[in-house]
Amino acid sequence: MAIPKTGADIRQAFLDFYAVREHEVLPSASLVPEDPTVLLTIAGMLPFKPIFLGQRPAEFPRATTSQKCIRTNDIENVGRTARHHTFFEMLGNFSFGDYFKSQAIAWAWELSTKVFGLPPERLVVSVFEDDDEAFALWRDEIGIPAHRIQRMGEKDNFWVSGPTGPCGPCSEIYYDFKPELGDDAIDLEDDSRFLEFYNLVFMQYNRDAEGNLTPLASQNIDTGMGLDRMAQILQQVPNNYETDLIFPIIEKAAAIANVDYATADEATQVALKVIGDHTRAVVHMLADGIVASNEGRGYVLRRLIRRVIRYGRLIGIEREFTPIVAEMAIALGESAYPNVRKMERVIKVSLQREEVSFLKTLDRGERILSDIIEQVGPGGQLSGTDAFKLFDTYGFPLELTQEIAAEKNLTVDAGGFEAEMEKQRIRSQQAHETVDLTAQSTLDRLADHIEQTEFLGYTRSSSDAVLQVLMMDGKSVQQAEAGSEVQVVLDQTPFYAESGGQIGDRGYLSGDNVLVRVEDVKKESAFFVHFGRIERGTLHVGDSVVAQIDLACRRRVQAHHTATHLLQAALKRIVDDNISQAGSLVAFDRLRFDFNCPRALTPEEVQQVEDQVNTWIAEAHAAQISVMPLADAKARGAIAMFGEKYSSEVRVLDFPGVSMELCGGTHVANTAEIGLFKIVSETGVAAGIRRIEAVAGPAVLEYLNLRDGVVKELSDRFKVKPEEVVDRITTLQTELKTTQKQLETVKSQLALAKATQLLDAAEAVGEFQVLVASMDDADPDALKTAAEQLQQKLKNGAVVLGSAPAADKVSLVAAFSPAVIQKGVQAGKFIGAIAKLCGGGGGGRPNLAQAGGRDASKLPEALDQARQQLHTDLQ
Ligand code: ALA
Repeated sequence: MAIPKTGADIRQAFLDFYAVREHEVLPSASLVPEDPTVLLTIAGMLPFKPIFLGQRPAEFPRATTSQKCIRTNDIENVGRTARHHTFFEMLGNFSFGDYFKSQAIAWAWELSTKVFGLPPERLVVSVFEDDDEAFALWRDEIGIPAHRIQRMGEKDNFWVSGPTGPCGPCSEIYYDFKPELGDDAIDLEDDSRFLEFYNLVFMQYNRDAEGNLTPLASQNIDTGMGLDRMAQILQQVPNNYETDLIFPIIEKAAAIANVDYATADEATQVALKVIGDHTRAVVHMLADGIVASNEGRGYVLRRLIRRVIRYGRLIGIEREFTPIVAEMAIALGESAYPNVRKMERVIKVSLQREEVSFLKTLDRGERILSDIIEQVGPGGQLSGTDAFKLFDTYGFPLELTQEIAAEKNLTVDAGGFEAEMEKQRIRSQQAHETVDLTAQSTLDRLADHIEQTEFLGYTRSSSDAVLQVLMMDGKSVQQAEAGSEVQVVLDQTPFYAESGGQIGDRGYLSGDNVLVRVEDVKKESAFFVHFGRIERGTLHVGDSVVAQIDLACRRRVQAHHTATHLLQAALKRIVDDNISQAGSLVAFDRLRFDFNCPRALTPEEVQQVEDQVNTWIAEAHAAQISVMPLADAKARGAIAMFGEKYSSEVRVLDFPGVSMELCGGTHVANTAEIGLFKIVSETGVAAGIRRIEAVAGPAVLEYLNLRDGVVKELSDRFKVKPEEVVDRITTLQTELKTTQKQLETVKSQLALAKATQLLDAAEAVGEFQVLVASMDDADPDALKTAAEQLQQKLKNGAVVLGSAPAADKVSLVAAFSPAVIQKGVQAGKFIGAIAKLCGGGGGGRPNLAQAGGRDASKLPEALDQARQQLHTDLQ
């Protein structure tokens, strides 16, 4: 059999090898993991984590995959070393309590040497320091000389999927690029000589947060072979980026930049490698539904896109180019991952939008930075606060600030920058932790002593319950009196706790002479916390109560929740099948549905979507609710939310032929119960994310009444019939525009007239004409025009004008002629110093500069100072 060479052949050969050895070939999971503890899929084993931990039964004893992965911890190394990637594919074979060490080692060796044809004398292996068993297997079963089996410590040869989780000792196979250096000099850390390409993890423990290891129920195998690395070896190229998996993207970028990769200098090659690597990553992330944003995985994506753009600029690409290189990455990836082609439009539009907005940001940042640089002056240092502000407000990366500063002979206080970053990190953490931390820790403490709350609310609206925990301000108390705000945990409850966008139920808890009004219900791990107020009596821990939800509220929320499902189905059917949910709110008075869509909906589409939902309502579809394994639900085509955590058994809500979704919320039994559905608005909330707000059920009437009231009020005020309101407003708008135009003309004529009068006030200072004056409440624009014109009219003039449009607003402008500047007096610096007297600042060019202040009472003094200063400076 020929030795595979292309990336595609290597992938197939790996999967085929294990398929014939009874491994189930499974498709790659999404880059967005189900596991909520990690942001992105970082290894082939991640989708199987619940199986290793015994939380979910394995459907097959053996499996093999080629898994898409993203790791960004080494992002700075990408392009600089031979093998660092953000996106990569991990080929893996897995055993769930089936075969173990000796079989895994034997197959790994057979695959490496027979299928991939690697000469045994080119291979070196490592084992965990005290894993004598693995050592013996390699030496005795495989026949590797003992000195080519290296024992390594925990850092290298003990693999954990994160800070906690399944783990075990591992054994790695390395390829030797320079066997001529001989066996005496084997140093696996030398990555110019050795490349680790296959990691076999003997998964047998679970590690907790303290680092304690507990044996797993079974002994498992988890392996990972880097597809890009094997491609590098078999294609005999000097690094991962030059394989057929990435190089075409690099060539595309090089063509756009008009450079030749082979002969380019190192910096250019690094830039091209970064572009090649990151483009592949962003294409797959976008294809998996990730949307660029400022937090979480959306931020990882945005950062990668921005790096592509920045490195593009570095090698001279001035025009938009990310959609073009993305097309190459799509073409390379589509045979193995068809979704990249399916999502082509979303990918390209998102990239284009990010690129346009980042370029604007860069421009803005550059302008601000050049002002700062001018102020600091050559040889100086930019403060950490400024660098941080550029980063935080203008998305300007520190390295870029450093690069630009260096061009002007300035340094940047990087330590100060880091300190600001740290401060912000703490700020955002604190912001996060204000959410009921106390209640959470109280419940954590009590968790072992109380029952998890059983939810009865799918079928019942009231039930008996026992009060297990009573809290005030999150702290556990034994009793509470009338008037107190309390948080209550019951053993069972019909109250729905906020989740999946649906808000918590309202209602009452009543007991012996005690009544609590429940205003909200939230989940704290397995406990439902009822937030309420004691209306009457005294409440005690251990009390028996009747929990009764407000049925009218519940019906309203159910109408909105089911309507949300119908809305999603209608959007997919009418607008785009790729639409997926990005967030939702299901409340009593309205629903809000955010979804991924690169463009705004047309008014016709909005109408069609609304009509479709109303048709389904009228058709009276009955809900079918069932509980089934996640895999079955997915196989039936149920819509699941990306990134949402689902247990192995899921609840499926099906309106056959209309909509099928995984959902834990409460719903109407028949769509007819909804009555009516009305879309209130369709807007954009972030790049690539649209939002529909709508009302359903009784809320529709309220909404329409409200709207009707507005029309009535307008027709009263304008004294026209409701249907004439629009015409009336159009006429008024036209009139208003004309009047505004006239007003502007008059205003500028007035300013000019005033300015001309001011000319008389100019005084001669040496060869110069100095004019310092106040223009009452003129706005900054008028002030600027006046100053410019006055300066032109005066010979060698220095004009400083000030105005106070409001008590807390001062506007200043300086316009100096070239002769004044030659004398060493610059408008920017001059006016900045004057503005300080009015509690402000500003600056600008040497010939024309504006500044502002906050204290109008200081204006006369400031102008006086300006006059004196000019006298001194120009004498
Ligand atoms: N899970 C192992 C790794 O990522 C195979 O290296």
